[in-house]
Amino acid sequence: MMTSVPDASGATLTVDLGAVRENYRALRRRLGRAACAAVLKADAYGLGADRIASVLAAEGCRHFFVAHLEEGIALRPHVPETAEVFVLHGPMPGCEDAALGHCLTPVLNSLEQVESWAALARRHGRALQAVLQLDTGMSRMGLSPAELDRIAAEPRRLDGIELRLVMSHLACAERQDHPANGTQRLRFDVARRRLPQAPASLANSSGIFLGPDFHYDLARPGAALYGLAPVAGAANPLRPAVRLQARVVQLRMIAAGDEVGYGLTWRAAGPARIATVAVGYADGFPRSLSNAGTAHLGDIALPIVGAVSMDSLGLDVSALPDGALRPGAMVDLIGPHRGVDAVAADAGTIGYEILTRLGRRFRREYRDGVPAPSSALVLEGVPS
Ligand SMILES: Cc1ncc(COP(=O)(O)O)c(C=O)c1O
Repeated sequence: MMTSVPDASGATLTVDLGAVRENYRALRRRLGRAACAAVLKADAYGLGADRIASVLAAEGCRHFFVAHLEEGIALRPHVPETAEVFVLHGPMPGCEDAALGHCLTPVLNSLEQVESWAALARRHGRALQAVLQLDTGMSRMGLSPAELDRIAAEPRRLDGIELRLVMSHLACAERQDHPANGTQRLRFDVARRRLPQAPASLANSSGIFLGPDFHYDLARPGAALYGLAPVAGAANPLRPAVRLQARVVQLRMIAAGDEVGYGLTWRAAGPARIATVAVGYADGFPRSLSNAGTAHLGDIALPIVGAVSMDSLGLDVSALPDGALRPGAMVDLIGPHRGVDAVAADAGTIGYEILTRLGRRFRREYRDGVPAPSSALVLEGVPS
């Protein structure tokens, strides 16, 4: 006899695939004639690369970026055969054959990677596709100006390499008035003229919002697909794609002067009701939200009190009517009243880090157009 397994998870992470689809469409509209890739590294910023890839492939997306070869190998079965999967870190020494065998296109970031890919092409007796990345100021990945000089002086170094794309990456694109944006674009244009003709790619999510001069042939958004704000200090035009609802484990009344959590870092000024909920730093919920973050029940704010523990955290739920919250009820840690970017600001980090750290203990739900049930619905006696 089958017995249904009760939902015993401490928290539910809801991913709204419809929002990701809408965000992709919004970016495409903004891009006009330029194509729109999707950056799916780090398991699509923690949302699930296979699920996100299917949705975007159905929208016509044919260019996907991952960071590692392993990520590319895992992603390949989830995208159409005609789609290109680009590996940002390029071929690590000794991994060239694996990249080729799995139909992955490396991003070549150094003369060494150019040489190893050209050598592979010679061994196979045919041209092999690759992307060339140029460092235009971030000093992270890509050919340095000196390496570019060498390629420009000896173009035969690229023999056997079919350039699918020449790309670079912006360091400050979310700050629209930052002078580095224009400087990097200028360097990119100058460098491209010294290379064989190839399609160009510069913009990440925020770069798309810098305007058409930054669009080139292909944009590479990640964060904006997942609902993060692309422009610092401006309203977010994208739809939130995740919600994190945590379960209440226990409730207690404490008296004035009682203290909460490891290190006893919070002391009640008066009688208070404390809810312990089942998410902690082992779930990727930052410890820096100790005495700093805010959960919500409906639109009622519930401050995090005391230190965030490994598997739980404390909330001051005194603002709720008596008996409103019971063990098993859910509260929002990320939701309509406090999105990923706001939680990140509370934690002193960026939305990217919040998303990519969200843990694997959560029950995951994928929705497409259907809103997650309101946290307030599981309660009795709370005005919604
Ligand atoms: C080379 C490169 N391109 C594009 C992206 C996507 O950036 P974003 O998530 O800001 O859109 C990243 C992410 O860090 C990246 O490293």
